Amino acid sequence: MRIKDCNNIMDFRRIARRRLPAPVFHYMDGGADDEWTLGRNTEAFNDYELLPSQLSDVSSIDLKSTLFGQAVDWPVMIAPTGASKLFHRDGEPAVIRAAEKFGMMYSLSTLGTITIEDAADAGRCPKMFQIYVFKDRGLTQDFIDRSKEKKYAALCLTVDTPLAGNRERDIVYGMSAPPKFKFRSAISYARHPGWLYRALVRKDLDLVNITSSDAGAKIDSGVVEYINSQFDRSLTWKDVEWLAGQWDGPLVIKGVQTVADCRKAANSGATAVMLSNHGGRQLESAPAPVDCIASVADALRDRLEIICDQTPAALDAAISTRWRPAVSWGSNVAYGCCEPNWNGRWRYWAVTGLKNLASSIFSIGCSLPRNIA
Ligand SMILES: Cc1cc2nc3c(=O)[nH]c(=O)nc-3n(C[C@H](O)[C@H](O)[C@H](O)COP(=O)(O)O)c2cc1C
Repeated sequence: MRIKDCNNIMDFRRIARRRLPAPVFHYMDGGADDEWTLGRNTEAFNDYELLPSQLSDVSSIDLKSTLFGQAVDWPVMIAPTGASKLFHRDGEPAVIRAAEKFGMMYSLSTLGTITIEDAADAGRCPKMFQIYVFKDRGLTQDFIDRSKEKKYAALCLTVDTPLAGNRERDIVYGMSAPPKFKFRSAISYARHPGWLYRALVRKDLDLVNITSSDAGAKIDSGVVEYINSQFDRSLTWKDVEWLAGQWDGPLVIKGVQTVADCRKAANSGATAVMLSNHGGRQLESAPAPVDCIASVADALRDRLEIICDQTPAALDAAISTRWRPAVSWGSNVAYGCCEPNWNGRWRYWAVTGLKNLASSIFSIGCSLPRNIA
């Protein structure tokens, strides 16, 4: 399949599958355990229907909005995905340039392959830094200070990762970072020498925010072992209060799914929540984000900005209008990363996703989302 034949995100997924070593593709594409949550995230859309409001004058569409006080052209943000250079040598900077071009908010992961500083300088779109709290609070504090210094619009604490998800595809296909060569994975890596060169010679895959920190953190083991040994599992809402005090700006809690937790987030000083089950990559049997949105929005819309992890554009449209949250895209952005021609890649990726979103908005008769209750 060629880029000009891509009509939807699943076409980009096909390209990603072809271009990446199998362990890397399955790391990007897989979910935790039996992947029930991963499947449910999209199956849940079958439970929804869009009721159009016909003859509503959709002659002009203006989806401009604000997120964390920043102007955005679309109520869509790019979710944090670790190690984007796994998927393409341009990695995070290319995604940032695309976010700038299309007027979207970009999120940099703690586990990114570009520093907080380099990401800030890579493009002028508003940015959020996604933080984890480490046992070594010096490292967490360092991330807060650096994000402040570089004027990130928001800080986002991911709370659904007390330990790395049990992704069975990673075991089956032999995914590890840095790459280890078992018989099966070695064959696949050997078919992608360019990828190997970047990983082993150029060291493109280093988690540079951690290794560049003055707090002196070192990753001596693999990433999964590092997460399981260094992320602070004793976190409570008291720590969110601490973080809110340190950051003193828009604070987003990512990975909550219930009204009760969202209320605790608001009471602890958060200004926004991301309804997310980490794209099905963490907890098996978690609810789909789309099923959480109505209750949370009804209870807390006045106290919190709400962002909902989503994929299919039609429902993006519905939830970004009726309940007025923003939506965040994770794996489909990662799929989009894999096409080597970045101009083509971003044009098609963004146009495919945003065009579907816009056409859904036309079809359900919402010309100006901000006018819709
Ligand atoms: C390859 C990949 C890496 C991810 N890395 C992170 C991360 O470092 N931090 C985080 O909070 N979420 C991470 N996520 C989860 C996304 O932020 C987002 O919640 C999820 O992808 C949304 O679901 P979707 O993939 O169906 O769009 C990652 C997701 C993917 C696919």
